Amino acid sequence: IGHTPAGVLSKKCFSRKFEKHFYVPPRLRDASGELVDSVNDWHFAMINDENRNEFYFQLLQHYIIPEKTKVIEIGAGSGILSMMAASLGAKSVLAIEGSLDMARLARINIQKSNFAYKIKVVNAMSTDVQIKDYPDFLPADVLVSEMFGTLLLGESALDYISDILSRRMLTQNVVLPRFGAQYAFLIDCPHVESISSVHSYRGIDLSAINDLRDTASVVFTKQYGFRLNSVPFKMLSKPIRIFEVDFAKDRPGFLPLISTREVVIQESGSCSAIVLFWSAYEYIEEKRFQMSTNPEETLHNFCRDMQWGQAIQLVEFEGAIASSSSLSSHVNAGEIIEMVQRVSHDSVLLQFGLRRL
Ligand SMILES: C[S@@+](CC[C@H](N)C(=O)[O-])C[C@H]1O[C@@H](n2cnc3c(N)ncnc32)[C@H](O)[C@@H]1O
Repeated sequence: IGHTPAGVLSKKCFSRKFEKHFYVPPRLRDASGELVDSVNDWHFAMINDENRNEFYFQLLQHYIIPEKTKVIEIGAGSGILSMMAASLGAKSVLAIEGSLDMARLARINIQKSNFAYKIKVVNAMSTDVQIKDYPDFLPADVLVSEMFGTLLLGESALDYISDILSRRMLTQNVVLPRFGAQYAFLIDCPHVESISSVHSYRGIDLSAINDLRDTASVVFTKQYGFRLNSVPFKMLSKPIRIFEVDFAKDRPGFLPLISTREVVIQESGSCSAIVLFWSAYEYIEEKRFQMSTNPEETLHNFCRDMQWGQAIQLVEFEGAIASSSSLSSHVNAGEIIEMVQRVSHDSVLLQFGLRRL
C-alpha cells in the first residue's frame, strides 16, 4: 500500500537530530523523530479542529447503538475517535495504530479518560491485524477512520479501508465517513507567481532559472510556507469535481490512470496554479454532514487551514513552447480548455495538465 504513516518504519530517535551539546527535553529523547515531527506539524492542529471532531461525533452518534455496536478504528492516533465511540456507548472498540509511540500515547489518553475497559489499542498496521486474534472485537459493526491527507486519498485511506472490508472484518459495510470527493479549480495569484518564477532585475536576465520551475508536482501550500487564504487570488474556474469515492464500495484502482475533461474559464487572467481541496461526507436522514478543505470553509478554521490546507500545482500548458513566460498561461473568460488528470497506480499522487483546445 502506497502510504506508510510517520513513525511506523523509522525508529530514529528525535535526539539524533541534534549535536550532543544541544538540550533535548528527556520526554523527547527516545521518541521517534519522525513522529515528533508529525505531531508538531499536524497532530495538534488536527485534534483542535473542533468542526472535524464534531463531524465525527455526529456520525458516530447516529450509527452507534449503545451496548450493541462494535467499532473498529484504523489509525487511532491520540485515540480521540475511539474514545468518542466509547463515550457514545459502543460495546467495544478496537483501536489500531501503526506507530508504536502513538499507540502508547493513545493507551495513556484512554486510561486517563477511563475507557480502557472498552477500548483495546493494537499497535500494528491495519493490514497486519487478523480477525482470529481479536474474537471479542471482530467482526465489528462500524469502521471509523481519519486517514485523509491534503489530498483525499494521499494517505491511502481507500486501500486500508478496502483491505478491512475484503477480509470481512465488518458485519455490514458501515464505513465512517462513507463518501469523499476531490475538487480542483484554477487561480490567478500574483503572490504564487512571485515565489515560483523570476523576471529580470535592472536589466539582468535571470530567466534561465525558470527552466527549473516545478510544474509537474502537486505540493501542499504549507510546504511553500503559506496558506492560500493568506494571499489574494482570483478564481478562474468553478470548482471541478475530479472524482468521488464511496469508501464502502470503491476499490483501489477505481480511478483511471489518465483522463481528460473540458473546463470553462469563468474569468480572464493569468492561470498561475491549480488548487485542490476535498470534502468527506455522509447522509443521515437525507441531511448532508460534511467536513471539507474548501478554502471558503477553512478560512475561519485556522487549525484546518494550517493542518490540511490545500494542495497546488503550478500551471504550464502542455506543449507550450514559451513555457516559462507568464503570458503563455493567459486564459480568457468563455474559453474552454482541456484538463488532463493523471493518477499514480496507488492513487497517492495526482498530476494535472492543461491543454489549449
Ligand atoms: C490523521 S491521523 C488521525 C488520528 C486520530 N484518528 C484522529 O482523528 O485524531 C492518522 C493516524 O493513523 C495512523 N495510521 C494511518 N494508516 C494506518 C493503518 N493502515 N494502520 C494503522 N495505523 C494507521 C497514523 O500513524 C496516524 O497516527
